[in-house]
Amino acid sequence: MICSEQETLLEMIDLALPYTKHGKVATYIPALGEADPDTLAVSIYTTNGECYSAGNINQKFTLQSISKVITLALALMDHGEDYVFSKVGMEPTGDPFNSIAKLETLVPSKPLNPMINAGALAVTDMIAGSTVEERLGRILSFIHEMTNNTSIHYCDKVATSEYETADLNRALCYFMKQHRVVIGDVEQLLELYTKQCAIEVDCKDLAIIGYVIGNEGVNPDTKRRVIPMQIARIVKTFMVTCGMYNASGEFAIRVGIPAKSGVSGGILGAVPYGMGIGIYGPALDEKGNSIGGMKLLEGISHRFNLSIF
Ligand code: DON
Repeated sequence: MICSEQETLLEMIDLALPYTKHGKVATYIPALGEADPDTLAVSIYTTNGECYSAGNINQKFTLQSISKVITLALALMDHGEDYVFSKVGMEPTGDPFNSIAKLETLVPSKPLNPMINAGALAVTDMIAGSTVEERLGRILSFIHEMTNNTSIHYCDKVATSEYETADLNRALCYFMKQHRVVIGDVEQLLELYTKQCAIEVDCKDLAIIGYVIGNEGVNPDTKRRVIPMQIARIVKTFMVTCGMYNASGEFAIRVGIPAKSGVSGGILGAVPYGMGIGIYGPALDEKGNSIGGMKLLEGISHRFNLSIF
């Protein structure tokens, strides 16, 4: 039986679906180019433990930049705020997510924030562990703790596809290594980063991750604190100021939900104290955000009055 919440979500998908026609799937990571641009799906996890879903929700997709939220939380847990923010800034940027421009012009050279590629690479470099396998295992275990889904793993095909074509990210890493922002081996860092970006989830997994972040770090099912409160707050703040890159200002006005996008077409939404949202729609706008997904989130925000502002 379809409940009224699901009917509402289905109606909202129908309203947002035409916008996917104006977007394109990412192809700079070749394996992502195989996605169906007409797909749109959503899951919403709510305080009563219910998860409402609509659309093509069994479709798995890779986290891509959404993983930056997770590695930021883990690096802060590993090293504390002072160390992490000695290497990565806290300010938004009007530049695209993969821009190298500010690294050269800012003195000292330091990525502006942990959501752009340069900042995220510097953060992944900090993840503790002696091998790539151990460090990736820690990232995966952290995700398992948030989602209660221990089957979550990375997609080797997408990871390899990105690793083999990651020359821009490679350039960012070598530039930052010269400036001592990156300390470790660059090829190992790229291996870990591309595998972290290739972690595969579905909308329900994203919705519960969003709930945990919005709920100041406590898993609603196990009642375990997975992220310290102050770190969950930092992460949520970056989602507001930098989560949608150089569209974050407009998104805050139109949607008003802490969110993080990825070039696979995923969007993670964390409504403080009581709702997590996972969206998938691989057709992207020119800034690398899911075009139908943003429209869908805007509709959901208005319908349920979710703006935090
Ligand atoms: O590093 C990259 O370019 C990708 N693995 C992730 C970029 C991304 O998801 C940007 N998001 N909209």
